[in-house]
Amino acid sequence: MTVADLTIDPSCRAALHARSLADPDGFWLEQAQRLDWITAPTKAGDWSFAESDFHVRWFDDGVLNVSANCIDRHLATRGDQVALIWEADDPAEEPRRYTYAALHEEVCRFANVLKSRGVAKGDRVTIYMPMIPEAAFALLACARIGAVHSVVFGGFSADALAGRMEDCGSSIVITADEGRRGGKAVPLKACVDEAARIFTGIETVVVVRATGTAVAMQEGRDVWYDAVAATVSAQCDPEPMAAEDPLFILYTSGSTGKPKGVVHTTAGYLLWAALTHATVFDYRAPEVYWCAADVGWVTGHSYIVYGPLANGATTLMYEGVPNWPTASRIWEIVDRHQVATLYTAPTALRALMKEGDGYVTATSRASLRVLGSVGEPINPEAWRWYHDVVGEGRCPVMDTWWQTETGGHMITPTPGLPLKPGSATLPFFGIAPQLLDADGKTLEGAAEGNLVIAASWPGQMRGVWGDEQRHFETYFRTFPGVYTTGDGARRDADGYYWITGRVDDVINVSGHRMGTAEVESALVLHDAVAEAAVVGMPHDVKGQGIYAYVTVNADVEADAALAKTLRDWVRHEIGPIATPDAIQFAPGLPKTRSGKIMRRILRKIAEGDVSSLGDTSTLADPDVVTDLVRNRVC
Ligand code: PRX
Repeated sequence: MTVADLTIDPSCRAALHARSLADPDGFWLEQAQRLDWITAPTKAGDWSFAESDFHVRWFDDGVLNVSANCIDRHLATRGDQVALIWEADDPAEEPRRYTYAALHEEVCRFANVLKSRGVAKGDRVTIYMPMIPEAAFALLACARIGAVHSVVFGGFSADALAGRMEDCGSSIVITADEGRRGGKAVPLKACVDEAARIFTGIETVVVVRATGTAVAMQEGRDVWYDAVAATVSAQCDPEPMAAEDPLFILYTSGSTGKPKGVVHTTAGYLLWAALTHATVFDYRAPEVYWCAADVGWVTGHSYIVYGPLANGATTLMYEGVPNWPTASRIWEIVDRHQVATLYTAPTALRALMKEGDGYVTATSRASLRVLGSVGEPINPEAWRWYHDVVGEGRCPVMDTWWQTETGGHMITPTPGLPLKPGSATLPFFGIAPQLLDADGKTLEGAAEGNLVIAASWPGQMRGVWGDEQRHFETYFRTFPGVYTTGDGARRDADGYYWITGRVDDVINVSGHRMGTAEVESALVLHDAVAEAAVVGMPHDVKGQGIYAYVTVNADVEADAALAKTLRDWVRHEIGPIATPDAIQFAPGLPKTRSGKIMRRILRKIAEGDVSSLGDTSTLADPDVVTDLVRNRVC
């Protein structure tokens, strides 16, 4: 029995999972044959989560190149097959299609442009791009020459961009004149200019002409991509990379401090992305597969670019938003390109569901075969709508639980597995989840607790850029010997997992991860603010919204105008996704006598659950709570 049988006989999933844990070396060396190696590995996992000997390595003696795996190896068999379809924001614009042969040429040229600007193996290249094909070319070009890419989501602010570039010592950024989303322009180049004033280490800005709008170009620093591309060769040999050479850095929010640069390496990551994409979506080339995420998030890395292209897929990339110009747009794209697999986030489904079924039923969707969900728990109502209305009961819904840190799917169905709406079902091959209570005791059978992973898997993150200690402290300190996910989960009597959400100070806004500490830091930077505490609140479309308690300085008028100013301030400091949904001015915050803010109480008030605030007797000033409850904002 092999993984290939899974699509024919789903019942072999349990046996394969058991084998992947009982014989990880045999299982993973066999799976590694999915990749094209320059030097094939002789060993699989080599890891320890113990503090005294902490290390994680996979396929350590293997040598390969990710871009060659995603492009070159397909040229002989599917050079003329479309690799990438690009659907523009404006439906009137003609979609673009790139065959694998064309993709090869584009990526080689892009790689040579980077080389011509002095980029070498190991250098960090920042990518701050709209959802245009050049974003994918840029990722693959970095991989081709062994540069480490760091994609910063195009919705992040100049400040966030500068901070991420400084953190990883990146002196080059690839951007575009402007992006477009839902008919609106996103001024990316202007943001880079602002970032360059904040972080003076930015030496080179490569600007892709996306909308053709006029932008300021600084002599000696800024170059137009097309001008340089016209001067370079369309051939570029892929750089041989060691399995554990870094492939990319992706910044993500944690419960404390500034975002951390999660590092993924070459072989294990690619294998994880490829295997999960092939099996979870039962991908059958040359079907059209569409992951509607942004390339600025890990979902875009693993499931728009690396996984699908490693599998020789036709991957669709969409520039715009789900509900523009109408709430039918997603389904129209499905019909236009005969999409077989659609992979999107619950927040998009909830927003579209609110518009009514008519926008869906006006379209055919007959091409759909498999549906996917990612980014946050999917509520059973949205699950059923996706399954019954969108998929007309015909397409299984793959609710994939995973994280930036995990590289790809961890707990997920595969087609054929019996599904339960709202459950991510069972662990993928090689994944050994456990539920622990607060004291670290392992819970057996049906239980609810902290979700941890007891053994390494190939797609596991390898480090926090520039801060090895932070890697260990964040993921391996609380519960020794296992990887702590930061999520809570329930396991039912059938062994199915139900993710209950974060157990730390991270909130999930529209499937985007946000550290409450980040929003608090942005708020207290404002002159009017003395102190701020941020928690999540339920939100019917976003899943969670951002609720900020703000104590203003003496002499400051805490009024609606200030609330708006603060909202705009956070938007500018971090980006639109961090905009607080509610700001409550509070003369005081509930603190223990030692000065620690009792977030549990703030969360309850934000949730509107004021009848069960629990024990407030340890507060320095219990009256603060009465005031907070009275002035709660909805
Ligand atoms: O809380 C979980 C939630 O998203 C977190 C990871 O966020 P991020 O690193 O930005 O990656 C998003 C794309 C994988 C997790 O800790 N999450 C993600 N997928 C699901 C989910 N929660 C429940 N069900 C899911 N399918």
